Amino acid sequence: MMDPQELDARLEAAIPAVRAAGRLALEHFLNRDRLAIEHKGQQDLVSIADRAVEDLLRRELNALFPEDAILGEEGGGEDAPRSWVLDPIDGTFNFLKGIPCWGVVAAYVVDGRTLIGITYDPVHDELFTARRGGGAFRNGTPIRVSGNTSVDTSCLALAYSFRQPKETYVGLVKQALDQGFEHRRMGSTAIQLCWVADGRCDGIATLLCSSWDVLAGLILVEEAGGRATDFLGAYGLLGKGGIIACTPALAPELEAVSGLVLPR
Ligand code: IPD
Ligand code: CA
Ligand code: CA
Repeated sequence: MMDPQELDARLEAAIPAVRAAGRLALEHFLNRDRLAIEHKGQQDLVSIADRAVEDLLRRELNALFPEDAILGEEGGGEDAPRSWVLDPIDGTFNFLKGIPCWGVVAAYVVDGRTLIGITYDPVHDELFTARRGGGAFRNGTPIRVSGNTSVDTSCLALAYSFRQPKETYVGLVKQALDQGFEHRRMGSTAIQLCWVADGRCDGIATLLCSSWDVLAGLILVEEAGGRATDFLGAYGLLGKGGIIACTPALAPELEAVSGLVLPR
């Protein structure tokens, strides 16, 4: 097990790499009319920006931590005992449409546990960081989940992928409304998790996601005092599945909405 000082040193070393990746992504965002867009699947877009940003992150992290493995959405990778898990642009659809809600994501996983999470929103220059046991931060300032205790004043962030049957998402929205939640779907699961950690939203539910979408945000929510699905325990690094995360008092209602159970 790595000691906290060593993890803090890794976090500090990785931050400039993620910020550099964010600056490159932002350059592409501001010149996105020049990007050739490819379709990976139904409503699933990708461009050279995703690959260029992941390549930069891989180069930088590999130079810093040559002994660590890297798993990235675009370049793939294996399940290894020590891995950096990367989503170069989470919210690619927004990115390519010019909607300013997307982020660059890196999580550090050791023996099936996320120990570091870094999510950078370059448009708003918001850097969200967490180290296991070390708290959650936005640009170095500590953040907390909302502390909301009432569904009647709470907002649930949702996400949907066209890889899911549409009925499952329609069912999720109906359950959320039946429970009395207001809801939003911003198009970047990673950024929405940061907003839960920062108290802007009270909870999040998505019924299908990958490790690179959520690991950095789930540790951030936990370190901000919230409760969150153990993605790695449930599905493993290469698996896919549903997650929820929220301010603690809303856990029973969110479990009822999603059909997912939080760790006790
Ligand atoms: C997507 C976003 C979105 C979610 C999709 C993801 P991408 O990631 O997180 O919020 O609904 O399922 O695929 O493709 O932009 O990296
Ligand atoms: Ca993603
Ligand atoms: Ca992506």
